[in-house]
Amino acid sequence: MNIRPRRNRKSQAIRNLVEETSLSVKDLIFPMFLVQGSGKKIAVDSMPGIYRFSIDTMLREIESCMKLGIEAIDVFPAYPEELKNTTATESYNPETFYLKGLREIKKEFPEICLMSDVAMDPYSSDGHDGLVKDGKILNDETLEILGRMSLAQAEAGVDILGPSDMMDGRVGYIRQILDENGFTETSIMSYTAKYASAFYGPFRDALDSAPKFGDKKTYQMNPANSQEALIEAELDTQEGADFLMVKPALAYLDIIQLLHTNFPLPIAAYNVSGEYSMLKASVERGWLENDRAMVEMLTSIKRAGAKIILTYFAKEYAQLVIGK
Ligand code: PBG
Repeated sequence: MNIRPRRNRKSQAIRNLVEETSLSVKDLIFPMFLVQGSGKKIAVDSMPGIYRFSIDTMLREIESCMKLGIEAIDVFPAYPEELKNTTATESYNPETFYLKGLREIKKEFPEICLMSDVAMDPYSSDGHDGLVKDGKILNDETLEILGRMSLAQAEAGVDILGPSDMMDGRVGYIRQILDENGFTETSIMSYTAKYASAFYGPFRDALDSAPKFGDKKTYQMNPANSQEALIEAELDTQEGADFLMVKPALAYLDIIQLLHTNFPLPIAAYNVSGEYSMLKASVERGWLENDRAMVEMLTSIKRAGAKIILTYFAKEYAQLVIGK
């Protein structure tokens, strides 16, 4: 035997030298849930360790995350049912708690990279990402609402908009509205290949945003397909996206790699709620070791070609790295 691959594994120092993928807290975006009111920190039952914060408690939470080295957050709103309607008008009401909250975050932490979500579902009484008519999701009519929402979020000081709705043409439409209104510096991280996945369940619990009828299969992608991801990535690139995102992450590592090898834009992956809760449930039962499994999951997403990972593990990972 003149070739013995184990030689490159014989000590920690050598393993470190040959290690190809390194994961940094700077690669991570921490998704957070905002609720109306003050003094609130409400546990999300299906996501152990994750909370819904009101703006005052969220500001303190952001501060503690920043001390751990986290530099980017993605804020999602959880709206009470009475503020929802079929056209999601609350999404662009400048006095709504979400937009007010975004403004406060940016005012207190101007250096943070603030990301938002662009889709109708948190504000829609139908629970869909687009406008519903006769049981169908309308594409072009939805764009108009997404455009208003995007502009309102850009005005609130968001650095990166995250259109998560999967309507056709929305990246170009939003880019044009932003530019016409002077927001040429506001970035777009498109949910390029977003699949109709079972792994969003806990997130929909957190936001009470599950669809009231049907499913999201006429706009989110079929988990059985990969070629379509190339079409979506091509369109988003042409329409002016700054980042391409794949969602979920773990069951779609091949899609991450496919986009990474075919497109020069930075690839992001969303390690979604169900992926987080799956590990937490196993840990609660004593079946898996939390820290090792978390690092392995996140590293695999990066190894597949994602430069950026949106993950509910962000704070925990940062604590692990810092050693507290
Ligand atoms: C809303 C949206 C969803 C997620 C992010 N933005 C849910 C959905 O599409 O139903 C899921 C995130 C997660 O599961 O962590 N458009």
